[in-house]
Amino acid sequence: MNEIYIKPNLKTAQRRTKDETIIDRSLFNIPDEYKDLGFNKKYYLRTYGCQANERDSETIRGILELMSYIEVKEPDLADLIIMNTCAIRKNAEDHVFGEIGQLKRLKYTNPDLMFVVCGCMAQEEEVVERILKTYHHIDIIFGTHNIHRLPELLIQAHFNKERVVEVYSKEGEIYENLPVIRQQNTKAWVNIIYGCDKFCTYCIVPYTRGKERSRLKVDILDEINTLIKDGYKEVTLLGQNVNAYGKDLVEDYSFAELLEDVAKTGIERIRFMTSHPWDFTDKMVDMIAKYDNIMPFVHLPLQSGSNEILKLMGRRYTTEEYLRVFDQLRNKVKNITFSTDIIVGFPNETEEQFEDTIKMIDYCKFDNVYTFIYSPRAGTPASRMEDNVTLEVKRNRLKILNQKVAQYALLNNKGLIGSIQNVLVDGPSKKNEHVYSGYTEGNKLVNFVPKNAKTGMIVQVKITSANTWTLKGEEISS
Ligand code: 5AD
Ligand code: SF4
Repeated sequence: MNEIYIKPNLKTAQRRTKDETIIDRSLFNIPDEYKDLGFNKKYYLRTYGCQANERDSETIRGILELMSYIEVKEPDLADLIIMNTCAIRKNAEDHVFGEIGQLKRLKYTNPDLMFVVCGCMAQEEEVVERILKTYHHIDIIFGTHNIHRLPELLIQAHFNKERVVEVYSKEGEIYENLPVIRQQNTKAWVNIIYGCDKFCTYCIVPYTRGKERSRLKVDILDEINTLIKDGYKEVTLLGQNVNAYGKDLVEDYSFAELLEDVAKTGIERIRFMTSHPWDFTDKMVDMIAKYDNIMPFVHLPLQSGSNEILKLMGRRYTTEEYLRVFDQLRNKVKNITFSTDIIVGFPNETEEQFEDTIKMIDYCKFDNVYTFIYSPRAGTPASRMEDNVTLEVKRNRLKILNQKVAQYALLNNKGLIGSIQNVLVDGPSKKNEHVYSGYTEGNKLVNFVPKNAKTGMIVQVKITSANTWTLKGEEISS
């Protein structure tokens, strides 16, 4: 067997051509002699980061179970450990390295243990170099573009007893027929577009996940129709920027049109994430307003409330343009809720610029805000900017921001006391089996006293009290 050794390259990963995306429809097949490679073996899969990674892990599960591996929830019980990693910020990476270091002990008790690192961190040159130099217990490294190659990589590492590194730095293809084992049986992630071409100056994603490439409408609708037949109640349409859906297709077909076609499948709940404010069209707003099964909840990352910082971030919109979309959604979509992402401490962010962000928070009164301190990512333009803001100042800004955010979250939740909400039931809550939990249409987590509720049902719940991040209620009889 030939040795597999392909390392990532950020410069190549950055390249974008006009080449048409290749869609690979070949049937996924594991050679008969390797179908039992995992017989009597257990795997532990740990997923970090965003929904794209969660969905990739469902494919990894699908592949491993075709090879007869069985999943365990404890790394100590595993013969194969896979870390599906996230590269978005340094602290996410530090966490992974900490975990990799800690799990090394398992190699001493089980020398045959196979240790794999994959996902976005594997796409970074620096990370791969560091693993190769320091973490000798890692047996396989593969990236986001070659999950379908996992069987060959496992076979190679198994029989050659050599380290296998295979990370492609390229624009990427679409693989339609990969196996999947979903984590839930009422709610499903459905990829609609892979990659990102926005190249916001702070962000590593366009380098780790390739160019924007849309799945064909027919493949997406087929997948959703199958999910409906299998009893699924909710789909979340996934993409780094779902609004860009269709722009790379030959057919003239946009995200707004896809939303309408998905709504017409009759699935009970449709969500989508993430939307970039820059290309949020009026037609999309109209679709969300028109169809009751498109949930009235939008995650609309603002990142900063300062036009100067937005420009430096390469976000392509001003706060005024953001508010045009925001207000339009608020005016047209009944009971809409919003979440957003904010980065504080972008290089040289001034006190006034930070105050501008707070002003936007005061105006928008988001239901939820994911807040981050800027983290330089190697290879991105922002990482080359000088930065005169100290970490202490950044931490303080984050604290002030978080206080504001919590204040509005609680205020919004309190406004729901006494209302009746449709809740998709997740099941008994983890802490108390007599209390059930589920999500409202506006994506709020509710813990409630059940009457007839069963997992997967949509029930009516009267809200009786509110905390900052959760609601409490009682199911009302229908
Ligand atoms: N530093 C801090 N936050 C970041 N994000 C993306 N890149 C960085 C970075 N380098 C945040 C953005 C994005 C979210 C997924 O993560 O807010 O919307
Ligand atoms: Fe990153 Fe910007 Fe693409 Fe979002 S839109 S993934 S923040 S580059």
